[in-house]
Amino acid sequence: MSVAGDKKTACVTGGNGYIASALVKKLLENGYAVRTTVRNPDDAEKNSHFKGLQALGPLTVLRADLNEEGSFDDAVAGCDFAFLVAAPVNFMAENPEKELIEPAVRGTLNVMRSCVKSGTVRRVILTSSAAAVSSRPVDGDGHVLDEESWSDVEWLTTEKPPVWGYSVSKVLVEKEACKFAEENGISLVTVCPVLTVGKAPVSKVYTSIPASLSLLSGNEADLSMLKHAEKSGGGVPMVHVDDLCRAEMFAAEEEAASGRYICCSVNTTVVELARFLAQKYPQYNVNTNLSGELLEKPRVSLSSAKLVREGFEFKYTTLEEIYDDLVEYGKVLGILHN
Ligand SMILES: NC(=O)c1ccc[n+]([C@@H]2O[C@H](COP(=O)([O-])OP(=O)(O)OC[C@H]3O[C@@H](n4cnc5c(N)ncnc54)[C@H](OP(=O)(O)O)[C@@H]3O)[C@@H](O)[C@H]2O)c1
Repeated sequence: MSVAGDKKTACVTGGNGYIASALVKKLLENGYAVRTTVRNPDDAEKNSHFKGLQALGPLTVLRADLNEEGSFDDAVAGCDFAFLVAAPVNFMAENPEKELIEPAVRGTLNVMRSCVKSGTVRRVILTSSAAAVSSRPVDGDGHVLDEESWSDVEWLTTEKPPVWGYSVSKVLVEKEACKFAEENGISLVTVCPVLTVGKAPVSKVYTSIPASLSLLSGNEADLSMLKHAEKSGGGVPMVHVDDLCRAEMFAAEEEAASGRYICCSVNTTVVELARFLAQKYPQYNVNTNLSGELLEKPRVSLSSAKLVREGFEFKYTTLEEIYDDLVEYGKVLGILHN
């Protein structure tokens, strides 16, 4: 055990992000000492949640940028685990190669080099995405994808479907991280979350929360993100952020864990979601008369059988359980009215 007496110590990159903030909280609640990084420690608004988190346990906030070589040396020094969560997520990048793909790969290897230098990091847990698994053409229905499946980089770069650069970035990050880990004797485990939703400590979320609430909020731009996700992945797979954070911890702590883990508890579609939400939340006037090429049933489902087989248990397994918490968070964020 290193640093902070007898506590295990974990570094979480990008602690002012949605998922990372929830992971920091989960680790502190489970007795870890946590070191987290942000690009701008002086941004009082973006970092305001750290005060509440610091009341839960030892939390140090450090400055680090994926684009600066060696920037994470201090953050991972003395840590047992490094959770690599920060990544460029600008889906609308005009030049995905330059703004998304290259910085994501370079930044991940940058943090991994810091982990090697530390001499204390026992395992790196990389947050990838379902975008690295299911963005590929499939014929017919009823496909169940597991960790053997990779998004098709050649197809993505040729056809350029919406947000193709993000999927490519996630595949290349995983592959380069894996190669680097093998060459440098690092224990690397990768978690591939699907659309992640539910309450987190941050008070602004730009990614999955507005999209998953779009049928309730009526925001068309956010709804189009959900439709794009269905189109490129053959369905809308979801997981609660609490389950994801527990899965990340599981991936760190289970000695035998290795390779990739898809983290998904529900597979649905935009149409199914609209019907469910219209019935459950009549006060929001959900439009169930949707246009566009939408699916009745998922053509593709993502399977977390590997995670479950190895002993992990999901707590949020139905849309009801997931949305109960999500709708409350949507109100706190001001995305939904009361
Ligand atoms: N949300 C989902 O549904 C979902 C699903 C699958 C996978 N993921 C993955 O989970 C991770 C976190 O996503 P999220 O939804 O939590 O997104 P988010 O809230 O936008 O968080 C992204 C984080 O990355 C940081 N970041 C971006 N560029 C950086 C750089 N050059 N240097 C240092 N930090 C940088 C951001 O810092 P700033 O605040 O300074 O910009 C922010 O803290 C990403 O790897 C994403 O691909 C998310």
